[in-house]
Amino acid sequence: MASTSGAAQVLVASNRGPVSYQVRDDGSLHAKRGGGGLVSGLSAIGPDAGALWVCSALGDGDREAVRRGVGEDGVRMLDIPAEIHSDAYNGIANSVLWFVHHMLYQTPLEPVFDAEFRRRWASYETYNRAFAEALAAEAAEGAAVLVQDYHLVLVPGMLRELRPDLRIGHFSHTPWAPPEYFRMLPDDIAEAVLRGMLGADRLGFLTRRWADAFTACCEAFVGGTGDTRIGVHGLGADADFLRRRAHEADVEERMTALRAEIGEGRRAIVRVDRTELSKNIVRGLLAYRQLLADRPEWRERVVHVAFAYPSRQDLAVYRDYTAEVQRLAAQINDEYGTADWTPVVLHVKDDFARSLAAYRLADVALVNPIRDGMNLVAKEVPVISDEGCALVLSREAGAHEELGEDAVTVNPYDIVGTADALHRALTLSPAERADRTKRLAAAATALPPAQWFLDQLTALTGQDGG
Ligand code: G6P
Repeated sequence: MASTSGAAQVLVASNRGPVSYQVRDDGSLHAKRGGGGLVSGLSAIGPDAGALWVCSALGDGDREAVRRGVGEDGVRMLDIPAEIHSDAYNGIANSVLWFVHHMLYQTPLEPVFDAEFRRRWASYETYNRAFAEALAAEAAEGAAVLVQDYHLVLVPGMLRELRPDLRIGHFSHTPWAPPEYFRMLPDDIAEAVLRGMLGADRLGFLTRRWADAFTACCEAFVGGTGDTRIGVHGLGADADFLRRRAHEADVEERMTALRAEIGEGRRAIVRVDRTELSKNIVRGLLAYRQLLADRPEWRERVVHVAFAYPSRQDLAVYRDYTAEVQRLAAQINDEYGTADWTPVVLHVKDDFARSLAAYRLADVALVNPIRDGMNLVAKEVPVISDEGCALVLSREAGAHEELGEDAVTVNPYDIVGTADALHRALTLSPAERADRTKRLAAAATALPPAQWFLDQLTALTGQDGG
């Protein structure tokens, strides 16, 4: 048991931290700050709260920053060896755990639980242990620790052994697999995952559905959830930030450029995703092609604006998926395009200002994941839409629990059904579209990131008894 007590009263642990570094040509380090729910959440508790964010160095720039002792107050970056990190992050978290919770394994994408997998699992344990030890060293007596996501499922159990005095929470930003699917994992690994999580005092999930799936897995494999409490916190969109950011000059510029790409008087079906298999971008394109095939009246009158930003490109399966998206978009353009109409406008270079521009001018937003923890695009579009936007939403996205009533719901596997839903969405009357958008925006902003974070913290420290 660690005898030292650190100074931090509130600790957050996640693989990706709030800042990353790049080495410039002149050798200097450039710091880039990220956004998201945790960043707003931590800023909500204020600079005097004694908060510390423990994260992993992710690239050469981050490692160099750690070596040079460069860092920000309130952030501790762990320099975990690159091979260990890659095994844990690419080999286990993003290949195995992500695939299980999103139920992505299907022939020919099959799980491979061989000796190499076991070697990577050992790295995953080492990587989790590095976090647990850093947290144990930094946390003050009785501090609250909020561990994030599938990268760090073993941390609560490990930390509990090192520091029984701490209040430990864990939050899952992904779905959780039902027992029939979760049992695909080798028995000892499935048990290690669940027992690791149950080392926490309290576990948070984005929706009731994922929380229930976790409980069902515990009942099936480890005899229940024991004393660990379970709560649901449906992260919402950050309305204040989005409304302000979406009206800055760079967004206005990109709106002008996008309007020119779409063409005068045409409707826009917009999607914005990281290119992950769970986002179902290929079936979205197939559904759009089906719409053009079945309903020729839409040809030349609609454009599918698809932003598919590369993600986790160290993994071949993610790279192949990006290539497939590009191939299919080009094929649809070849098949249906005319001299002055490009049916699919695909962009793969990440540009946040352009994403906001697309949200503002979208007539229809297509959000059709196979499975998704929440999906914030579905929540952000209605908040900043200029003239109202119809939302085509997968029933398998966590956001559907809150937005389903005012969206056009789709089964993400059903290409013809999705094509019909796109048609319905395109033909909603302007008044109906505006009404629905208003209700969607209200539901989407019910739990802003700062409140989402504070709710978890108070529930963990027992102040609300939850
Ligand atoms: C998505 C998921 C999160 C996850 C994150 C990691 O946003 O919803 O659950 O933590 O991806 O992304 P990264 O780029 O760090 O692999």
